[in-house]
Amino acid sequence: MSGAVRKKVAVLISGRGSNMTALIDAARDPACPYEIAVVISNRPEAAGLQTAREAGIATTVIDHRRFDDRQAFEEVLHETLLMFAVDLVACAGFMRIMTAYITGLWEGRMLNIHPSLLPLYRGLHTHERALEDGVRIHGCTVHFVTADLDGGPIIIQGAVPVLHGDTPGSLAARVLRVEHRIFPRALSLVACGAIRLENGRITGQWRADAAAFITSPELED
Ligand code: GRF
Repeated sequence: MSGAVRKKVAVLISGRGSNMTALIDAARDPACPYEIAVVISNRPEAAGLQTAREAGIATTVIDHRRFDDRQAFEEVLHETLLMFAVDLVACAGFMRIMTAYITGLWEGRMLNIHPSLLPLYRGLHTHERALEDGVRIHGCTVHFVTADLDGGPIIIQGAVPVLHGDTPGSLAARVLRVEHRIFPRALSLVACGAIRLENGRITGQWRADAAAFITSPELED
């Protein structure tokens, strides 16, 4: 994106941070319409913090256990996002339920990756539940964050087959590889303005090309 100002992104994590790494890696491309300004964790022990530091990215810990309630935590989170002057927020394995306070302030500017084909399997243990139900197709979703947990408008989904003999671990690994592809793509689409949230609905355009796995909208490359 030569000459264009890249959107500044805060990545929120709670643990390993492999989706965070995918977002960081994609931002190394000068054509990427976003850059990672800060990585924020609600857990001081999150492994992703070290990965971010090694990538030369600013990190901040806001330990949720220090706060009396969710909004008090979110007020500090919001101040931190303002301090780093970010345009967009990417929740990448961020294991805190958001209230209407912060989702309202960041409406249309906060994205989340969820390891299921929403609206199926909101919440936790998505792979176990998919196997229990015997579904043949599973996957992941990037959506805008609203106060409705895992219920915000869908930006991109990626699907994978459920194979004979799958365990929650093998299925999670197959889904995770797709997560790492669709999250940078969804964030880029929002960062460059190709996709927007208007009156609670997704608007905009995206390309539909062949892809190695099923996604909607289909991914280029
Ligand atoms: C991912 O599967 C994400 O979809 C879910 O939690 C996991 C986080 O993994 N919300 P990582 O921290 O990005 O490696």
